[in-house]
Amino acid sequence: MSAPELPAPRTPGRYSVALVCLGNICRSPMADVVLSQRVDEAGLSGRVTVASCGTGDWHVGHPMDGRAAATLTAAGYDASRHRAQQWAQTWLEEHDLVLAMDESNLADLGGRSARVRLFRDFDPVGTGGEVPDPYYGGDDGFEEVLTMVERTSAAIVDAFRRLEEP
Ligand code: 4NP
Repeated sequence: MSAPELPAPRTPGRYSVALVCLGNICRSPMADVVLSQRVDEAGLSGRVTVASCGTGDWHVGHPMDGRAAATLTAAGYDASRHRAQQWAQTWLEEHDLVLAMDESNLADLGGRSARVRLFRDFDPVGTGGEVPDPYYGGDDGFEEVLTMVERTSAAIVDAFRRLEEP
């Protein structure tokens, strides 16, 4: 299955993506840092914005989970700037594409739509799968999340490039 097309931006020439998990301290912050870095490397940071949030409010204002941050730092990313935010319906109006980490997050957003889908719909491996919640598990879970997030972020940046083509 090929990667889905991106929904058209609301403002031509700009694109805004939101990444959503439950706590906004593990999965969506890792995806936010990695996708932002890939966007930057592709020279698209002036036009593409990336943000993340969680459906739950427990961690609002907190930095990333220490294990998520350590996994990113060991792989050469800057995990220091993240502060958790909570999802609100206004995010739907403010973003061109909203990507949920798992089916439960997707249901909490009101389900699938043209602009709301699973992050791993863009993963060339295991397309349409979930990013498993590593919060209650061991360090292996964070490595697995990083692998999925790096692969999927590369595919999303390819989709941004296709959007830019005339
Ligand atoms: P995340 O992981 O959704 O990937 O950020 C979780 C973080 C915190 C909790 C659950 C999942 N929690 O219940 O506090």
